[in-house]
Amino acid sequence: MSDNALYTDLSGYYDLMCADINYQDQSHSAHRLHQIFGNTGNRHLDLACGTGPHIYHLQQAGYACSGLDINQPMLDLALQRCPEARFELGNMCDFTVDTPYDLITCFLYSIHYSGDFHHLTHCIESVHKALSLGGVFCFNAVDKDHIDNALSAKHSLMHENSQFSFGSSWYYGGDGEKQTLKLSIEKTNAEQTQRWADEHPMVAFNFSELQRLLSPYFDVHVFEHEHSKIVTWNQVSGNAIFVCVKK
Ligand SMILES: C[S@@+](CC[C@H](N)C(=O)[O-])C[C@H]1O[C@@H](n2cnc3c(N)ncnc32)[C@H](O)[C@@H]1O
Repeated sequence: MSDNALYTDLSGYYDLMCADINYQDQSHSAHRLHQIFGNTGNRHLDLACGTGPHIYHLQQAGYACSGLDINQPMLDLALQRCPEARFELGNMCDFTVDTPYDLITCFLYSIHYSGDFHHLTHCIESVHKALSLGGVFCFNAVDKDHIDNALSAKHSLMHENSQFSFGSSWYYGGDGEKQTLKLSIEKTNAEQTQRWADEHPMVAFNFSELQRLLSPYFDVHVFEHEHSKIVTWNQVSGNAIFVCVKK
């Protein structure tokens, strides 16, 4: 099993895999949270930006957007989608910026790609340095103690005469700071069925641990994983939106 094919050789299928994600709502929610908790600036950086869907919507909301991702094939697609944005190949756990940003986002649980606590701390420090006064870091995350290894999300669609089925699920072994994201793609047309499976190593944490890492750098607000309304986290849900205001 590879751990990266979806973001390299199979990057052309990424947007199909995410076809049922409401990126407009997520981006609108990040914009509202920035308006409520952050400053009035409009410089935005999306970490692990992928093919740039949040950048597309946040540009429409008036932000001057940049994106950073570790896989060039994803950035190539992002540039096609958002030719006015600036994109950089880089690692979110070790980046610097010339001019600070007012809003930094990292969605679809991508902060977990930092891999372990050591690199997650570097990511948090890099974000803190890259933000302007009153700037906001907004991302979503999953709590390892709430991962149900039996759950998976699946969806299918037709594209260019092929039937695609996509699957994704979290796996946490119950111990330590590693979890995996399992992704699968099946493509069937008149001639054949092709199958691919990726297993992505990621950092595992619970929300208390995450808050402890963030709190030296940020005032941290945690919300339910709702993009259409702002609801304070109920201390129980395993998915949440973190809004971190630079100290
Ligand atoms: C699940 S995709 C999310 C893409 C986009 N944020 C979205 O919501 O569709 C994860 C992205 O993280 C990128 N990535 C993984 N590790 C990274 C790292 N250490 N630094 C920057 N980007 C990374 C991958 O290349 C991929 O584009």
